[in-house]
Amino acid sequence: MDNLCKNRTHNNGELTIKDVGKVVELKGWCAKKRNLGSLVFIDIRDKYGITQLRCDEKVSDISSQIKTEYVIYAKGVVVERESKNLNIPTGEIEIAVSELKIINTAELPPIYISDDKDAVSENVRLKYRYLDLRRKSMQDILKLRHKVTKCVREYLDNLDFTEVETPILGKSTPEGARDYLVPSRIHNGSFYALPQSPQIFKQLLMVSGLERYYQIARCFRDEDLRADRQPEFTQIDIEVSFIDLDTLYGILEGMFRKIFKDIKGIDDLSFPKMTWKEVMDQYGSDKPDIRYEMKLTDISSLFVDSPFDFLKGKVVKAIVAKKAAMSFTRKEIDQLADLAKLFKAKGLCWCKVKNGELEGASAKLVIDKVAFKEALNYEDDDLILFVADDWLTAVTALGQVRIAIAKKLNLAKADEYKFLWVTEFPMYEYTDDGQLQAMHHPFTAYIESDEKYIQDEPLKVRSNAYDLVLNGYELGSGSVRIYNQEMQRKVFERIGLSDDDINKKFGFFVEALKYGTPPHLGMGFGLERIVMILAGTNNIRDVVAFPKIQSASDLMNDCPSEVEESALDLLGIKVVNKENDVNERKENDNER
Ligand code: AMO
Repeated sequence: MDNLCKNRTHNNGELTIKDVGKVVELKGWCAKKRNLGSLVFIDIRDKYGITQLRCDEKVSDISSQIKTEYVIYAKGVVVERESKNLNIPTGEIEIAVSELKIINTAELPPIYISDDKDAVSENVRLKYRYLDLRRKSMQDILKLRHKVTKCVREYLDNLDFTEVETPILGKSTPEGARDYLVPSRIHNGSFYALPQSPQIFKQLLMVSGLERYYQIARCFRDEDLRADRQPEFTQIDIEVSFIDLDTLYGILEGMFRKIFKDIKGIDDLSFPKMTWKEVMDQYGSDKPDIRYEMKLTDISSLFVDSPFDFLKGKVVKAIVAKKAAMSFTRKEIDQLADLAKLFKAKGLCWCKVKNGELEGASAKLVIDKVAFKEALNYEDDDLILFVADDWLTAVTALGQVRIAIAKKLNLAKADEYKFLWVTEFPMYEYTDDGQLQAMHHPFTAYIESDEKYIQDEPLKVRSNAYDLVLNGYELGSGSVRIYNQEMQRKVFERIGLSDDDINKKFGFFVEALKYGTPPHLGMGFGLERIVMILAGTNNIRDVVAFPKIQSASDLMNDCPSEVEESALDLLGIKVVNKENDVNERKENDNER
């Protein structure tokens, strides 16, 4: 066999000054070539690093042919370098090459394989993702992701959890996004739904008596994409029987302690808890970033008798951005107001503190300046913002303003990790078209003392649902599940599901719950979000090997794509309304 297919003796990241004198054989890609006349220097790269090859006249016929990204083989002796590069582990040595071969040629790559990823637009990187993934920083993220799942598996295996795979071709699940549907060839007109999560199956496994289940599970959701959402993503999915909520919190906290210890060497994490009502009231978000303060203060009492109708009797919430008066121009404050309006506030009031006095558009609205100062405890050069509305609108809109201000002022420290359990989410919420729905999913148990509100004040009912938040990201959600038939019936009934609807949607599941269901509870974490935070990126695409862009298409393989008429015929499908023509979509994607 040609030695090109044989093992190399070393990888390209391991040779050091200690290896001087050894004869080695290396393989990898030509990362860089510098021609200095009689000498040619080639950086040979593999997964482990880069080693410098020194090629003289003996191998000049081959070295002259080698171009960037050619796959090459080199044999030679390790020698000490004249000019050392102390930034890389192999920087003190080079290989005096005696034999050089081209294993494979490469066309000129459309992207330069360097760790300066900003040098190339993300769309081009995604089109040539296989080349983009040659970059060390991208490979480091994939390795990090692997480390996280390995950690999770080790941890849960030690606690007697069993990993079970659940179907991908299934029936609609209750997470509330749109399903991806797969048409059936055998049952024309019928469809599988890809799982939005393994929710129903994991509960069925509890009925089966598995007691401790987990899965690194693929999930699919046809929803509007954001910087932390992909149409297909992975959950660390967990379900347990016969334990109480505090025990589950302890198990899950232990999992994150292990991940952060093993990967970041951090062992001083804490996991405080706040109820949904408390976080909304203090931070205006159900996933607050608590690395910085800037809490919302209630100043409604100052405006009970306000002469201004839009303030009078309203819930008025304020934040004080410390020393930020000079950091925001009028235009930037207007942008904050637009943001507040996007979240349904009627407006955003603001003033700046200069020489002890309030200045700015809303200073005149403050009648009792002494009480205002006492409530907000502001100082010179602070920026004060407030919103008057109903409670939920006021806190939500101002919560968004809080986030935008913190971003601009860089208030969150990148290397700080602040977890928070958010508990007691509302059981129900209204959709935009006025329908009552379960906020988490309809198999979530409510807090029994709130049962009295179900009929007339459903928004007051608290559920046994909880989220784990980290640095402003919702890492995961879970709940104590309903195992009691009567509670399940009440929950379904209140969201207007008829027996017929229930039977069609989850008849098999409700039936299963009748055969001795143990009390159980669980949680699902977004793996990508965990990896994003550990990798220090705010773009979910960075932590997915082959991600989709905002329009849910893959720029590399051009999916989704049209299929042959004959394939549609087999499925009994005729496309009648191509709302979004494929070519038009591609053009749009290219413009993004
Ligand atoms: P939920 O719908 O809140 O709960 O999802 C759990 C976690 O999954 C992650 N996640 C996503 N990550 C990337 N892209 C997406 N499109 C996306 N959607 C969700 C988030 C989220 O917190 N079955 C329940 C869990 C349970 O009750 O056990 C569920 O799926 O990090």
